[in-house]
Amino acid sequence: MDKLVIEGGRPLSGSIRIHGAKNAALPIMAASLLCEGKVQLQNVPRLLDIDVMLGILNRLGCSAIHKGDTVIVETSGANTCHVPEDLMKQMRSSIFLMGPLLARFGEVCIYQPGGCAIGERKIDLHLRGLSALGAKIEENDHQIWCRASKLKGNDIHLDFPSVGATENIMMAAALAEGTTIISNAAREPEIQDLQHFLNAMGARIMGAGTDTITIQGVSRLEPCDYEIIPDRIVAGTVLIAAAATRGTVTLTHTYPSHLTSLFHVLRRAGVQIGAYNDIITISSIGRPKAIERIVTSPYPSFPTDLQSQIMVLLSLADGLSLMKETVFEGRFKHVDELVRMGADITVDMNSAFIRGVPRLYGATVEATDLRAGAALVIAGLAAQGKTVVEQIHHIDRGYDRIELLFQRLGGVMHREAPILRQLDLA
Ligand code: EPZ
Repeated sequence: MDKLVIEGGRPLSGSIRIHGAKNAALPIMAASLLCEGKVQLQNVPRLLDIDVMLGILNRLGCSAIHKGDTVIVETSGANTCHVPEDLMKQMRSSIFLMGPLLARFGEVCIYQPGGCAIGERKIDLHLRGLSALGAKIEENDHQIWCRASKLKGNDIHLDFPSVGATENIMMAAALAEGTTIISNAAREPEIQDLQHFLNAMGARIMGAGTDTITIQGVSRLEPCDYEIIPDRIVAGTVLIAAAATRGTVTLTHTYPSHLTSLFHVLRRAGVQIGAYNDIITISSIGRPKAIERIVTSPYPSFPTDLQSQIMVLLSLADGLSLMKETVFEGRFKHVDELVRMGADITVDMNSAFIRGVPRLYGATVEATDLRAGAALVIAGLAAQGKTVVEQIHHIDRGYDRIELLFQRLGGVMHREAPILRQLDLA
C-alpha cells in the first residue's frame, strides 16, 4: 500500500485550483442512467471513487470513460439492473444507483454498500423513500431487491436530512407519475448541483438547497453536458492546512458561499480570510485561538467532513476547544493518531476535548478513512520533523493526488509506492 512521507514545519504559500466535487459528481454520474444517450460531465476529478463509479456504469452495460477532467457516459447500452457486489462494496455512493435503475428498469438489485468506516451508515431512509414511491422491497442477508412497475409521486418526510436519501428519492421521482414533495430534505450544495443537472436533462425539480424539494415527474429525460461544482471539502481542507502551518494561500475555482460556516470558525481562531468571486485568500501568522465549541451538523452548519481536519488546527490552538460530532457515530478514529503526534485530546462519547499544544511532532500514523487521512496530512505538514501516513488509498478516494496539491503550495512530501509497484511488477 502507498504511503506519504511528509517533512513538516513549513508555512504553505502560493495559489491552487480546487478540483470538482466528488460528492456532486458521484450522484450525477449515477443519474446519467435516467436518460438514453451520451452525457458529458466536465470538472470531474480523478479519484478512486470516480473510478469505481465508472466501473459500475460499464458493468451495467454503459460505455463510461474519463478523459482529462471530463467523464463521458453513453447509457444506451445499459442492460442490467444488478449492481455488481464487488464494486458495490467499495464505496457508499454505489447506493445512488438505486433510484436511477429503479426509474429506468422498474427494478434494481443492490448489496449493502461499502464506504468509510465512520458509523453504521444505514440505508433505511433510502428504502423508505423509494417504497413511498411505490417500490416493493425484498431483503435477504446480503441482497436487496427493489421493484416497481410504475413509480408514483408522493409526499415523503425524512426523519433525518440524509444527503444520499434525498438524492436517491430526487432521481427516482424525476421519472415518476405525478408530484413528489420531500420535506426535511438535505440542503447541501451537492443536492443543488444534482437538481441543476436533472433539470438540464428536462426534469422539473425545485427547492434544492432548502428543506423542501418538489419534483414534478416527467415521462422522459434527455442527455446533456454539465459542469460539476468545485469541491468545498477539498477547499476547506486546504484552508485549514494553510491555517495550521501559518501560511498564506490563495484558492481559485471555488464557491466561497459553500464554506461560510468554516470561514466563521477560522475567523474566530484569528485567521484572516478574504473571498471575491471564485477566489478565497487566507493568511495566518500567529498561533490559532481555541474555539469554545464546534458542533457538526447538516448544511449549512459546520460540515462533518471537515471535523477531523479542523481538529488538527484546534490541537495547535492556545487553549481548550470542544468538538461535538452529531452526524456520524464513529468519526473520531483520527484522534488516537493525532495523540501519537503530541496532541492532547480526550474523547467522551461524541465529544472531543482538545487542549492545544505549542507543536506537534512527526510520527508514523495510519489513515483510517478519507477525511481522517486528510487530517493526518495536515498534521504532518504542521508538525516538526518527519511524518509517514500509511493506508493512503483512503485519501485517494477523495483527493486527486494530495501530494501534488500540497507540493504546489510548498509542502515537502512525496508518495512511496511498494517496491514491486515501483518496479512495475505488482
Ligand atoms: C454523504 O454521505 C457524503 N457522501 C458524506 O461524505 C457526508 O459525510 C454525508 O453525506 C453527510 O454530509 C457522499 O455524498 C458520497 P447521510 P451519506 O445519508 O449520504 C444516517 C466524504 O467524506 N442515515 O446524510 O451517506 C447515517 O447513518 C463522505 O466525502 C440513516 O440513518 O450521508 C448518518 O449517521 C463521508 N439512514 C447520517 O444519517 C439512512 O438511510 C448522515 O448520513 C441514511 C443515512
